[in-house]
Amino acid sequence: MEKEGNSGNEGTKSETSAMSVEGGVRTDVENGGGGGEEVVVTPWTVSGVVDYDKLVKDFGSKRIDQDLVERIERVTGKPAHPLLRRGVFFSHRDLGFILDLYEKGKKFFLYTGRGPSSRALHLGHLIPFMFTKYLQEAFNVPLVIQLTDDEKFLFTQDPKKKLEDFYQMGKDNAKDIIACGFDPEKTFIFSDLDYVGTMWKNIVKIQKAVTYNQVKGIFGFTDSDNIGKHGFPAVQAAPSFSSSFPDIFGEKSDLPCLIPCAIDQDPYFRMTRDAAHRLKLKKPALIHSKFFPALQGDNTKMSASDENSAIFITDTPAQIKKKVNKYAFSGGRATLEEHRELGGIVEVDIAYRYLTFFCDDDELIEKLADGYRKGEILSGEMKLECIKVLQDMVKQHQVRRAEVTDETLKKFMTPRALER
Ligand code: TYM
Ligand code: TRP
Repeated sequence: MEKEGNSGNEGTKSETSAMSVEGGVRTDVENGGGGGEEVVVTPWTVSGVVDYDKLVKDFGSKRIDQDLVERIERVTGKPAHPLLRRGVFFSHRDLGFILDLYEKGKKFFLYTGRGPSSRALHLGHLIPFMFTKYLQEAFNVPLVIQLTDDEKFLFTQDPKKKLEDFYQMGKDNAKDIIACGFDPEKTFIFSDLDYVGTMWKNIVKIQKAVTYNQVKGIFGFTDSDNIGKHGFPAVQAAPSFSSSFPDIFGEKSDLPCLIPCAIDQDPYFRMTRDAAHRLKLKKPALIHSKFFPALQGDNTKMSASDENSAIFITDTPAQIKKKVNKYAFSGGRATLEEHRELGGIVEVDIAYRYLTFFCDDDELIEKLADGYRKGEILSGEMKLECIKVLQDMVKQHQVRRAEVTDETLKKFMTPRALER
């Protein structure tokens, strides 16, 4: 049977009812020392040592297993992206359903976004965009990218920041996003401040389908939060429906949607899928990534507001070198003798972990891990490899970014029919 009407296989089950506080998960985990540490994963905060298996269980998504990776390779006829092969993209909702339709010749569209809170992106922000580029190419499908300048204005604590500042940061960020290599014939990037009018019909329908109690439960809003915050989730939900883009897909279209993002954004889309069910619209499918860790260790999300936690795509080679050498948490031992004898711990070594995100060379990664565990490779050597890869990648990005003109930006941001 073809479930055209609804991409969800969850039937009538409400996805938001099982949600825990603040749209995320707070649990006490026993850490090694026996003390409890609070783990928080929400769209605003990620802290503590994230247990991804537990997250999948609590959020009610599905693990991506080897079979699914192989199926994606078969369907696209292309090797899986390293971020998929290595389990960085690890969880999904209804991805199988998107593949079923695709195999029958029915296309879908991709939707992702960025909240422009800083002028420069950090390396963690690149993950979903790099992966989205691969998906666009492998499936040959159109893509919409939302810049939530409105969101960042409503949620900022800084009274000096003006609405126009967020709009401008969105435009700057868009150039960096374009530099990831998206196809101009198949990609529409929009600022909410420019485009929300066109989506308004769907936004009000979604707002009517979600109660105040629900958003309070999902996002942890309180009575003293401004009213814009309470309404905003419908704005992030709306692009999941192709009818929000009449100039691109036509007002009546109901093209299925796939959303790549890190798992912190999932609360929005659980709400969206619940609303979709009530509105008899197709539920968007999702593919979730783990977090790119901060320099200080593999238990936090890189944050643009903490300069020393992150490497930015505007950093110079010297800055990258200094940050990795000075701040990257090391899995090496206290002394050279100990390291040679016991070997290092790759699992917590940030230089190594960064390589698993950004180095395409499987063999090199394997060799480094092996040598590190045996104590043959030292922390300094691991850091050196990491610095080389990051400097090279950032440099290449900067060259492509410099080529993105205002003209190019305008093209991407002009509402128009996209190739599909
Ligand atoms: P924002 O700007 O916080 O993040 C943009 C994208 O980057 C992901 N991300 C990360 N991925 C891996 N490691 C990290 N350390 C890391 N930090 C951030 C985010 O999950 C996101 O995919 N409200 C959104 C903007 C938005 C959006 C969307 C995102 C609007 N519509 C649809 C995804 C899908 C935001 O503020 O993202
Ligand atoms: N993840 C964003 C950041 O750290 C914050 C964020 C994402 C957010 N989605 C949100 C804030 C929705 C408020 C509402 O920059």
